[in-house]
Amino acid sequence: MTERKSFGEELEAADERGIERTTSPSLATLWQRRVARRDFLKGMGKAALLASASSAVLSLAACDDAPQARPDAIFGFEEVPRGIDETHHVAADHDAQVLVRWGDAVLKDAPAFDVNRQTPSAQLAQFGYNNDFIGFVPLPEGSQASDRGLLCVHHEYTNDDLMHAGLPDGAAPAQIAAFFTREVVEISMAAHGGSIVEVARDADGKWRVVQDSEYNRRLTPLSTAMSFSGPAAGHERLQTNEDPTGLMVMGTFNNCAGGITPWGTWLMSEENFNFYFMDENADPRETANHERMGVPGSRSYPWGHYHKRFDLSQEPREPNRFGWVVEVDPLDPASTPVKHTALGRFKHEGCENAVTKDGRIAVYMGDDQAFEYLYKFVSADKMSDDRAKNMTLLEKGTLYVARFEEDGSGKWMPLVHGENGLDETNGFASQADVVIEARRAADLLGATPLDRPEDVTPNDATGHVYVALTNSKEREKTDAVNPRATNLWGQIVELTPEGGDHGADNFSWTLLVKCGDPLFPAIGAEWNPETTRDQWFACPDNMAVDPTGRLWVATDQGSGWKTATGFADGLYALATQGDKRGIARRIFRAPVGAEVCGPCFTPDGTTLFLAVQHPGADGTKNYKGFERASTFADPATRWPDFDEGMPPRPSILAITAKKGGPVGG
Ligand code: FEO
Ligand code: CA
Ligand code: CA
Repeated sequence: MTERKSFGEELEAADERGIERTTSPSLATLWQRRVARRDFLKGMGKAALLASASSAVLSLAACDDAPQARPDAIFGFEEVPRGIDETHHVAADHDAQVLVRWGDAVLKDAPAFDVNRQTPSAQLAQFGYNNDFIGFVPLPEGSQASDRGLLCVHHEYTNDDLMHAGLPDGAAPAQIAAFFTREVVEISMAAHGGSIVEVARDADGKWRVVQDSEYNRRLTPLSTAMSFSGPAAGHERLQTNEDPTGLMVMGTFNNCAGGITPWGTWLMSEENFNFYFMDENADPRETANHERMGVPGSRSYPWGHYHKRFDLSQEPREPNRFGWVVEVDPLDPASTPVKHTALGRFKHEGCENAVTKDGRIAVYMGDDQAFEYLYKFVSADKMSDDRAKNMTLLEKGTLYVARFEEDGSGKWMPLVHGENGLDETNGFASQADVVIEARRAADLLGATPLDRPEDVTPNDATGHVYVALTNSKEREKTDAVNPRATNLWGQIVELTPEGGDHGADNFSWTLLVKCGDPLFPAIGAEWNPETTRDQWFACPDNMAVDPTGRLWVATDQGSGWKTATGFADGLYALATQGDKRGIARRIFRAPVGAEVCGPCFTPDGTTLFLAVQHPGADGTKNYKGFERASTFADPATRWPDFDEGMPPRPSILAITAKKGGPVGG
């Protein structure tokens, strides 16, 4: 989930700035046609148009909808054609098994899922909603097993209107207020957070959840106490009426991308936490801080009606207790998760990590909002064989923010109290203030505002780091790393640490691809020249690198029928090296309304776990030629069960190659 309008709304806003307004089935597609017409009017025929697309020459310009599946020399799977419909599509030479769905049992005592009689206590024992990040921790501990392990899964947010009966499309405020009873709110809270589920692959090749596993666990904002570490732990700005110590907090929510550390712990990012706070801020000292973070959210979850810590008039410091990175030990179900304040407070997207040349841990993190920054944390101490000691590494170190220069160089600037103006003269009394207001500190250092930094993925095989900049409709002034105004399409940055060292202060960078349809020069897309009309995408979000070093990119165009591209979100293999660099191949296509999250490979690469998030959300059967909102009673899809009476269920899929061997060939 991101703080933004739907793409339809974004395009309508673009229309107001001079781009012709269009309607369904795809505003973007029609906008592209409009742009193409404009190009023609400038005297460019189709051939000239194609030839003029700098590195975006299409091998096929015909615009029929015939599938163009063909094996690829690099990727070795049968490409899924673009499109949009009620279900998912995986490459024909692969299988996709539904492994675990919203409402399935996680804890031993979980009741059977009954969507019409759901309760908070049932939800606390069941798989949560809107699965996002997936991490895989092999079992037994410390092994590289690929047939047994723990899935660590984020449940980013809830679509309450699709989870419960009773909220019609276009409901009046009074109807909405009546809908959100304490029970509905606490089911929502219990469906947030994370799940740890043991999974195993049987001799027949099928994956299953190990129902009675001692590791299975739910972490939620309703039930899981967490502690703070680092410079802001115990600081008065983290103290509340419920927690005068500023050292403990109940739970985590809006966890988006994440990471698994080399010592097998799970890093949960806290992203759009502002949506959960309501009412008037009662502490004027926090006004500017809250405004910078968008607190209260423009469309807040009404948790504050029943839990006063989400009511700013009563607990104005509670938002300072969210926006952090949480470390969880999945191997100890009784462990207390820790929010590491040294990694800064912002709308965290992702915590993928790498080891520096001298053995410290580097954590890469995006701040997913237009004009926000890219961060890196480097621990003060080195990793060791002592797992317990490694679990303290994120308590102490240096937080950096990135500056991208026009010449393709860049530097990491330390956010350290007392240096570079981060002192009392600018309202930073200590390092606690620096990490609590990391965005404002980064402003002062001259960090580079980016087009919504989503996932950041180091590739150990090549030494590069990939940064997904998903889009930014707001951008007007462009620069080298954000080269397009009204950027509805996004780009992927390839970053190379100096000397191949993730601890280095400097890096070089280039753009791997500029997303969008390469057919239309006005869009400014850049792909490998061999890219066909079926092989481009928009809005890169989650990424993963498989064991052979191939990059995989999942897309998120925002829920709803007005997707940027006119076709469903998917998962793509994207070549990064050789003459295929910049070619994408779609291995998976999501059902209508859904985005694709959490690509995660087993250590041997033979299974890909994939999260389908918010299926049917604000969806429509636009591919059948009409539009309407999704409701519980009449959703755009009932994926994956397709049972009358069962709404769509966010689910994790296990994808394997039919002939065995690595996913993707
Ligand atoms: Fe939750 Fe930035 O996507
Ligand atoms: Ca997303
Ligand atoms: Ca994301």
